[in-house]
Amino acid sequence: MNLSRISFRGNFLLLSRVLQLSSSRTVQLKYSRCQLRGFQTTAKMPVDKTLFGVETDVVNLVKGAPGIRHLRLATDIIQKATQHLFSLDSVKDDSYVLQYGPRLGSTHARDSIAKFLSEGYGDEVKGDNIVITSGATNGLAMACTHFFKSGDVVFVEDPSYFIAINMLKQDMGMKVIPVPTTEEGIDIDTYEKLLEQHCPSGKVTDTRPFRAMLYMIPTYHNPRGYILPPESCKRLVALARKYDVLNFSEDVYNFLHFDVDTRAPPRFLTYDKPSDPDYKGHTISNCTISKILSPGLRLGWWETSPRIVNLIFKSNILWGAGCSNHYASEIVASAIDLGLQQSHIKTMNREYQQKIANVYALMKEQFPEGVKFKHLQGGYFFWIEMPENWNGTEVAKLALDKYKVQVLPGISCSAAGNYSNCLRMSIAYQDEDVLKEGAHRLAEALKHYKSKQ
Ligand SMILES: *[C@@H]1O[C@H](CO)[C@@H](O)[C@H](O)[C@H]1NC(C)=O
Ligand SMILES: *[C@@H]1O[C@H](CO)[C@@H](O)[C@H](O)[C@H]1NC(C)=O
Ligand SMILES: *[C@@H]1O[C@H](CO)[C@@H](O)[C@H](O)[C@H]1NC(C)=O
Ligand SMILES: *[C@@H]1O[C@H](CO)[C@@H](O)[C@H](O)[C@H]1NC(C)=O
Repeated sequence: MNLSRISFRGNFLLLSRVLQLSSSRTVQLKYSRCQLRGFQTTAKMPVDKTLFGVETDVVNLVKGAPGIRHLRLATDIIQKATQHLFSLDSVKDDSYVLQYGPRLGSTHARDSIAKFLSEGYGDEVKGDNIVITSGATNGLAMACTHFFKSGDVVFVEDPSYFIAINMLKQDMGMKVIPVPTTEEGIDIDTYEKLLEQHCPSGKVTDTRPFRAMLYMIPTYHNPRGYILPPESCKRLVALARKYDVLNFSEDVYNFLHFDVDTRAPPRFLTYDKPSDPDYKGHTISNCTISKILSPGLRLGWWETSPRIVNLIFKSNILWGAGCSNHYASEIVASAIDLGLQQSHIKTMNREYQQKIANVYALMKEQFPEGVKFKHLQGGYFFWIEMPENWNGTEVAKLALDKYKVQVLPGISCSAAGNYSNCLRMSIAYQDEDVLKEGAHRLAEALKHYKSKQ
């Protein structure tokens, strides 16, 4: 794996996201690798400003990103944190934050993030177990390139994060095995059968420490919204140990827990306990600052076991380039030291809670009978289940063409081609007024579709 290949992958990922997420039309790009079942867009080449291209009169409820309102608040935080950082004697003395960083990140950054996580989860997180990444997407790419090779097996929940499925399958060339879910999370009985069937046998070694990977989003799942129950987490850990599976746990929404008076749910890693007699450390908790401060910073981290920290330390990519995002990690560490990150999350969660209560009420009132969805306690997405015989791809097309609102067909989230009667609707990006207008338009589209059945 060389660096030029990685940067190509990065660019490709960006390109494919632009094509999938942008809603305006002019140039029709036919790039078959970028096309998702059920979700073909006619994409305009974007103005060179953000991933999402130009704003149009379409209400976009696909974007899983913080909205402009929250980014304006983040601007202020980042300015203050930057000023604070450059006022520190240690930074003034040797400008170390502008040097190549230590491979895993500086002690300051790792400790500040650990402190932030310890407070957030109410469970001690050690700085030694933190590895700085440049966002969760990079965290995934790093895990795939370091621990696996093309053709290796990765289990994914069905449905799952739609771009990760493409990335694992197309960019990494891995063999993606979908595992069914229920409303409660991954179906573990079926998962165990699939492990028996697909998990390769043979010895694990230091250079090949895992037979397969389980890619999952156990908290505020994208797109279904569930929180995996503790019993299931425990069973999963037992299975991972038995089968030497790397549990890649996507913990990007955990702190988008709207009820600010209660704690965020425990992360999956909690269940991979060092005190267990058969503990080896099979879990990576893949986190990002993208949803709770700014995606533009490209900062994330892994929280993992000493074993995995030692293995990734040997990465030549980290040796060559140093910490994946040293500078941004120091800025965010300063924001945490000043308490700004913590209060920002509270502000956002209060606003999300209010906004979602209002849009939920509107959806309850206006969506036709037979269309189901649950109230959100956290995360970014409503998962909308329509009657079995409805076609989500057609509903989404009708909604876009005639009612100027864009949602993601459920089938796009499924590596198995299931959930063709579902839709994913993001609550994150749009302000309340626009979100409600979008939900209203979607209601009209649903009624229209229903009248044709
Ligand atoms: C980590 O999280 C990011 C952001 O959600 C995701 O794109 C990426 O695929 C994740 N990596 C892994 C290994 O799960
Ligand atoms: C998804 O589809 C596959 C076949 O393609 C089927 O075996 C599986 O049970 C389906 N899962 C769900 C949850 O519908
Ligand atoms: C993955 O999960 C399984 C069970 O779900 C667990 O036994 C295993 O230890 C986990 N692996 C990691 C690396 O956490
Ligand atoms: C849904 O509609 C699309 C587009 O018309 C079509 O290609 C697809 O086969 C339909 N799916 C089902 C399950 O009927």
